Amino acid sequence: MSERPTPVTDLAWSPAQARELGEGVLDLWTELLERLPAELVTRERTPAETAAALALPVPEEPTPTAEVLAHLRELTFEQSLHMGHPAYFAYITGAGTIPGAAAEFLAAALNQCSGGYRLGPGAAEIELHLTRWLATRFGLPEGSGGMIMTGGAMANFVGLKCARDQRLGVAVRDRGVAAAGPVAIYASEEAHVIIRRAADMLGLGADAVRAIRVDGEQRMLAGALAEALAADVADGVLPLAVSATAGTTTTGSIDPLPELAALAREHGAWLHVDAAYGGAVVLSDTLRPLLAGTEHADSIAVDPHKWMYTPQSAGCVLLRDFGHLSRSFHADASYIWLDDAVRQGIDFAMHGPQFSRGFAALKVWISLLAHGRLAYARRIEQDMALAAYLGELVQERPQWELMCPARLSICCFRHRPDGWTGTEEELDRHNERLMTAIHADGRVYCSNAVIDGRFGLRACIVNFRTEAQDVERLLDVAEELARGL
Ligand SMILES: Cc1ncc(COP(=O)(O)O)c(C=O)c1O
Repeated sequence: MSERPTPVTDLAWSPAQARELGEGVLDLWTELLERLPAELVTRERTPAETAAALALPVPEEPTPTAEVLAHLRELTFEQSLHMGHPAYFAYITGAGTIPGAAAEFLAAALNQCSGGYRLGPGAAEIELHLTRWLATRFGLPEGSGGMIMTGGAMANFVGLKCARDQRLGVAVRDRGVAAAGPVAIYASEEAHVIIRRAADMLGLGADAVRAIRVDGEQRMLAGALAEALAADVADGVLPLAVSATAGTTTTGSIDPLPELAALAREHGAWLHVDAAYGGAVVLSDTLRPLLAGTEHADSIAVDPHKWMYTPQSAGCVLLRDFGHLSRSFHADASYIWLDDAVRQGIDFAMHGPQFSRGFAALKVWISLLAHGRLAYARRIEQDMALAAYLGELVQERPQWELMCPARLSICCFRHRPDGWTGTEEELDRHNERLMTAIHADGRVYCSNAVIDGRFGLRACIVNFRTEAQDVERLLDVAEELARGL
């Protein structure tokens, strides 16, 4: 017999060691919160500079805590873009709730595997409760529910996977889609690219997604959908799902949900709503009517890490019938046997694509608990008011023009220098250069929009630190930089 192994305790840090590092991290975090408004949103740096600062050789022996903290300081203040900065307006990336960050820390410390109920009973109950509550806010009936995903891409994928399995029959999970006839998913030209990617990942091929024309407000044309459905049915193609968007990525447009729901129902198609961005308005009683029609959805994607401001990453898929998740994802495995007498609760590993999974629900839940729904409602309404205010400023200033009215919390606009005589293409290039200059400058930060083929700037406010002066600063800085182009 070999020698009895003696303890190897290197990794088992004492509570005192945990406290030393933990408090150091807490200090960094609160310093960041204090300094944030005076910091740049980002600074220009090359990948080589960032790698040189952070890609340290992996040490053979422990790094002293002070050095680890110095490394984290470099990451925090020198090598990060601050999405929680009041002048950050790009993409749709929430500012990151403060309670959410604290909860994320504890979630990692608790280290729950929410794949199996018994491995995290509290985690599972919180996730179930949270997602049921969200489903109710969307008007889904009793029996609905969902789960937290890594983001909108996965939430939409899971919703459409349930659609595929319900429409083609669960046997498709074993036999594959080759045995099924041709199918189609209908989404607008303005839908996010992840709908095509979901069709690709589902084995349907991205071309199974029909890009339905939009109206002048970037909303799916119900008439064009009706035509596409009729043409496919005539060709023997099965309408699998209508994927409506509630809050498009570029302009915040909401598809005509009641009309799309009626067309989906008429063709027996699944109704999926990508509310990854716009879904958050259901937290406001005043704004909730904007999403009328979503209550007919079979599945909904909504992203807490967008307009619910939760730290990255947290998406959420909601199902009208929670049972679809297990029908689409259950798998038997001999190595997770439990006596039926002790099996209890929901094993999320049997309800979604991940097997082991963490506890992302906690940061969403604790943020809601700490702030209360009404604080979200007020802030979401404020974000919309700020986007509208930006739109007004754009219209007031001579060198700026709106590309479309502000919708939800998005405003798209472009710069047209005084006395401009160039072509539209040249104006596109001018605005491209302006956006690049804004990014290089780092005092404010926005992204871009391409609307009807024209390039402009886009500000999306999903940031509880942004106020009117930041919106004004965005235009002031952009104008200053435009002068230098
Ligand atoms: C409407 C919409 N759907 C889906 C996504 C993808 O979500 P995620 O980036 O969280 O995967 C986005 C991202 O901006 C989006 O705007």
